[in-house]
Amino acid sequence: MKQRNQEIEMKKRVLVSGGTGYIGSHTAVELQNNGFDVVIADNLSNSKIEVLDGIEGITGIRPLFDKVDLSRKNECDEFFKRYDDIEAIIHFAASKAVGESVENPLLYYRNNINSLINILEAMKEHNIPNLVFSSSCTVYGQPNKLPVTESTPRKEAESPYGNTKSICEDIIRDVVKAHPELKGIALRYFNPIGAHPSSKIGELPLGVPNNLIPFLTQTVAGIRSELSVFGNDYNTPDGSCIRDYINVVDLANAHVVAIERLLQDRNKNNYEYFNVGTGSGVSVLEIIESFERSTGEKVPHKIVGRRAGDIEQIYADTSFSNQELGWKAEKSLDETLLSAWNWQKTL
Ligand code: UFG
Repeated sequence: MKQRNQEIEMKKRVLVSGGTGYIGSHTAVELQNNGFDVVIADNLSNSKIEVLDGIEGITGIRPLFDKVDLSRKNECDEFFKRYDDIEAIIHFAASKAVGESVENPLLYYRNNINSLINILEAMKEHNIPNLVFSSSCTVYGQPNKLPVTESTPRKEAESPYGNTKSICEDIIRDVVKAHPELKGIALRYFNPIGAHPSSKIGELPLGVPNNLIPFLTQTVAGIRSELSVFGNDYNTPDGSCIRDYINVVDLANAHVVAIERLLQDRNKNNYEYFNVGTGSGVSVLEIIESFERSTGEKVPHKIVGRRAGDIEQIYADTSFSNQELGWKAEKSLDETLLSAWNWQKTL
């Protein structure tokens, strides 16, 4: 009993905003696997409550859940009054469709920026020092030099969505400078793909997917007739675009490491940012090849014109995050694509 009490005492409570979403749900699992007590706040605008069953099915623990829109000041304040024992926050909750953000920028600025400001104000008010922010390699635009390191200059964003990531990074930097009791880490994700190996959680796009992997798996499942490969005339070895595809469980584990770094005061500055990728650039055609090899399924596809706004190639230099965080992406591309297919088959 004594030991159990100690265990309960030691459990640190982490708020995962957007925790029923794709990356948030995988992170909730890894946090629980590492002994954290997870509270999820999500407005369910782009996710389903059943995701909690998946998290519970994997870890044996159902995380606390609160349906709340953190971009609304009064809802956010009420939430932090209800949960007054949060020690760290991972802020995922945000709108993320690039095309939609071009059509409706105000929606993106309102949602993505207000929620961060409300959270930072709550951190000050409730003495919650630690924040991990969900950023993106989109802040680098099309870099002049590859791979991109953390000191690669950020470029003007290609979309309002991308701009919200840059603006949010700047807000965190400025706020922790003015309030040194607060600390923040921004994780710049490259392209997260795949699903939990249990196939109990994964990506759940609503409507026609914009991203490559859900479109590809839906095509193989017969939901879509053909995958369009957007361009084969880029200046890359096979002419298709290159990205750094990272397994979502590896990505989730980077968040656990970042949270531990903050809670144990191992951060070197009050604001830090890290690339979270594999370090390997992979083309769209190589993805198709790897998928076919690992699953034994054919991917019906055709080459079409370039997609507006696409970056030709980007991949991470991960040496700084590997060294400083002591974290490294471990899963192979084949195994990751197989996990995406196994998940698709459950839908
Ligand atoms: N692609 C296709 N066919 C499709 C969908 C995508 O060929 O049906 C190609 C794209 O042209 C691109 C690659 O697959 O070359 C990856 O495209 P995604 O849409 O999956 O991902 P992006 O790299 O365009 O965007 C991702 C995130 C964004 C983030 C951006 C940062 O989805 O949130 O990385 O660079 F802003």
